[in-house]
Amino acid sequence: MSRLLYIQASPRGESSVSITAADAFAEAYREANPQDEIDTLDVFTEDLPAFDGAALDAKYAILGGGSPTADQQAGWSRVEAVIERFKSADKYLFAVPMWNFSIPYRLKQYFDVIVQPGYTFSYDPETGYDGLVTGRPACVVYASGGDYSSEQMRPVDMQKPYMELMLTFIGFKDISSVIAAPTLMGGPDTAGECIKQAVEHARAAAADF
Ligand SMILES: Cc1cc2nc3c(=O)[nH]c(=O)nc-3n(C[C@H](O)[C@H](O)[C@H](O)COP(=O)(O)O)c2cc1C
Repeated sequence: MSRLLYIQASPRGESSVSITAADAFAEAYREANPQDEIDTLDVFTEDLPAFDGAALDAKYAILGGGSPTADQQAGWSRVEAVIERFKSADKYLFAVPMWNFSIPYRLKQYFDVIVQPGYTFSYDPETGYDGLVTGRPACVVYASGGDYSSEQMRPVDMQKPYMELMLTFIGFKDISSVIAAPTLMGGPDTAGECIKQAVEHARAAAADF
């Protein structure tokens, strides 16, 4: 039995295009793999630890080989629990809206919590950085109001390149994508068509995931 971690990064629930297409993926995946578990994590409703001064004090105390205080240790244990849930999955599905050319802040917070040396990546002065989350596939469903596929628009897209950078940094090599765009700029007919195509594409991507 495998565990698929399904990370939702839109607060728009059923109105969300990225969640609609990612739900189609999850449904097709469940049909093809009824024995597998799907663990859904909504970064907007999940009680993610704040990555503030106390968390950073704990991080640097641990990184420096010192002993964190009891309060720092308690804060760090919450960070470790989020990392553990992430790392214990076998496969990953993300639903990611574009917000201000990048990803929503709660997903950025999630990355700030889980991307930690010794947990999801390592550093060696001789060989550099190495990702520690290896041998697992990820599918990312993107939604954006505009269309960033043209040569002119691609340079301002910080959504897909950022997701791919972070996932590659922590070890992913097998990253597929489903793109729903433009969900706003082309008007309702274009949006309807792009959602339909994204749902079909997502179902197909789930078949051999
Ligand atoms: C706060 C916010 C910022 C947005 N910024 C952009 C943007 O920079 N570029 C863009 O094309 N669309 C932008 N949009 C539109 C969304 O990308 C679009 O509505 C998309 O469908 C959202 O994904 P969702 O339907 O899964 O929530 C923004 C929407 C919100 C709410």
